[in-house]
Amino acid sequence: MPEHSKVMGKDWAADRRKANVARLGAALAEALAGRDELTFEIGCGHGHWLAAYAAAHPAEYCVGIDLITHRVERSQRKQRLGQLANVAFFKAEATEFLDALAPGQKLAKVFILYPDPWPKKRHHKNRFINEANLARLAAHAPTGATLHFRTDDEAYHAWTREHLERHPQWRLVADAPWPFERTTFFEDMMKAKRDLTAVRR
Ligand SMILES: C[S@@+](CC[C@H](N)C(=O)[O-])C[C@H]1O[C@@H](n2cnc3c(N)ncnc32)[C@H](O)[C@@H]1O
Repeated sequence: MPEHSKVMGKDWAADRRKANVARLGAALAEALAGRDELTFEIGCGHGHWLAAYAAAHPAEYCVGIDLITHRVERSQRKQRLGQLANVAFFKAEATEFLDALAPGQKLAKVFILYPDPWPKKRHHKNRFINEANLARLAAHAPTGATLHFRTDDEAYHAWTREHLERHPQWRLVADAPWPFERTTFFEDMMKAKRDLTAVRR
């Protein structure tokens, strides 16, 4: 049996992904023109954290993405209501966003807060942190760029630490202070905080 996305030799999933990346690339080229250095949050949810971060860091240009339309709309509402000129939110899947981003656009800081932990072993392949995605981030991260990861989940924390420890492009920083505290929607529910910070080599 062919995989369900492959019918008569045609890989529909790959084609859809390619089309998404092309569409996103065109949208980002326009929306982020002249923004060479970004502070980037993956899975921004309702945008509480990044909107507060942008308000407190007017010299940085911040971009938040999420998969879910209504969360992105709520984030965009915060941007409008706060009249924040230095933040933009997009509906995008993280790997597609990273593949669509122009090579000249650099990620100076990357934040991942309370990502889905996918606790079951058979679902670990869905975790965002893996070797390929750390390389995807590194492709846009100049030397010295930072990656900040926070989760309540002990197992995902250990998984991310291990991936960062063995990744050639990232170096873990011990006991780094968390750069900016503003309780996120999920942090409020989960309470626990487990942080990791890595620097692009
Ligand atoms: C558990 S929620 C955390 C939201 C927010 N960071 C917080 O702390 O409240 C994880 C978020 O990541 C988003 N997400 C999951 N996988 C994603 C992906 N591949 N690309 C973009 N967003 C993703 C989900 O839609 C969801 O809003």
